Amino acid sequence: MIYLDNGATSFHKPPGVYRAVSQALRRCANPGRGGYAAAMEAAETVYGCRETAAELFGCQPEQVVFTANCTHALNIAIRTLVKGGETVVVSGFEHNAVTRPLHALKANLRTAGRKLFDWDNMLFDFERALKRGAKAAVFTHVSNVFGYILPVEEMAALCQHYRVPFVIDAAQSAGVLPVHLERLGADFIAMPGHKGLLGPQGTGILLCGREPDPLICGGTGSASAQQEMPDFLPDRAEAGTLNVPGIAGLYEGLRYLRHMGIRNVFEREHKAALACIRMLESLGFRVFSGDHQAATVSFLPNMDCEDAAQLLARQGIAVRAGLHCAPLAHQSAGTLDTGTVRVSFGHDAALQQVEALRRGVEVLSA
Ligand code: ALA
Repeated sequence: MIYLDNGATSFHKPPGVYRAVSQALRRCANPGRGGYAAAMEAAETVYGCRETAAELFGCQPEQVVFTANCTHALNIAIRTLVKGGETVVVSGFEHNAVTRPLHALKANLRTAGRKLFDWDNMLFDFERALKRGAKAAVFTHVSNVFGYILPVEEMAALCQHYRVPFVIDAAQSAGVLPVHLERLGADFIAMPGHKGLLGPQGTGILLCGREPDPLICGGTGSASAQQEMPDFLPDRAEAGTLNVPGIAGLYEGLRYLRHMGIRNVFEREHKAALACIRMLESLGFRVFSGDHQAATVSFLPNMDCEDAAQLLARQGIAVRAGLHCAPLAHQSAGTLDTGTVRVSFGHDAALQQVEALRRGVEVLSA
């Protein structure tokens, strides 16, 4: 299979990830729930992963909260900052993982920056939206549909200037672009463990710049005599048994990234994405691309997008078509009625994948 759906999940993990998951299942008991060897091994594995994440993402280990996925992390962050009915500033490229929790809270969304790949438009609109006052801002680092890299450093600085707490959705950027909690000064940064961080599904991380409100309550293996959730991190936000095999795999994914260098991963993916854009354009497809492009590329085939993805699937090429759980992004780009076909490269990006895709899409243009 030519796997070009890394925006959904990374599929080919480094070999150490598979080994670590299997080993944790056989060797790890419940972390923080016992002093015997198997419980201690679990606790050490979880702490090692926490420490490595903290080192990669610019915070202290206790500011790393393990979640089930990025959506879970976003829900904790959003529900800490927004209680119901307030105004929240979002970018025009948000995923349903951001907009649905805000909708459920009856937040009044003020959408800023709807022009693809246009930082001037984003920053102008974003500042104008913040100036009017808002309870919070929530914005993605990279659009999961178009690979548009938003100017998050500047957006973070604007939030600080106007004293608006903010959450960054690093679903598509963690593992490929610099993400640093302390430098960005974010209240929260949410990320999946199973995409660019190369861990298994069922893992996510919330970086906490402030104390979150618990989304669920329960046992933590700490402060057990009291009925309130512990007032310290990470326990406050980690009720119930952690996904130790998942975290063990994530730990290996993070170690692999540390070894490879995030910048090198980005350059490899970016080279393939640029070749992909040139190839699709040369075949006459409408491609959504521009400056500030990550390794995710959307295009319009000369047929229904879902049918096109099916035709590619029959040739052994995995892409994702439709609205990609991001109707707001499609509305901003004018593709809400059609959707797009999305090609997303991963840490194993190669020009041979682009060549295989070329042979696949030639069938679509025939
Ligand atoms: N949010 C993931 C995607 O973009 C699942 O495909």
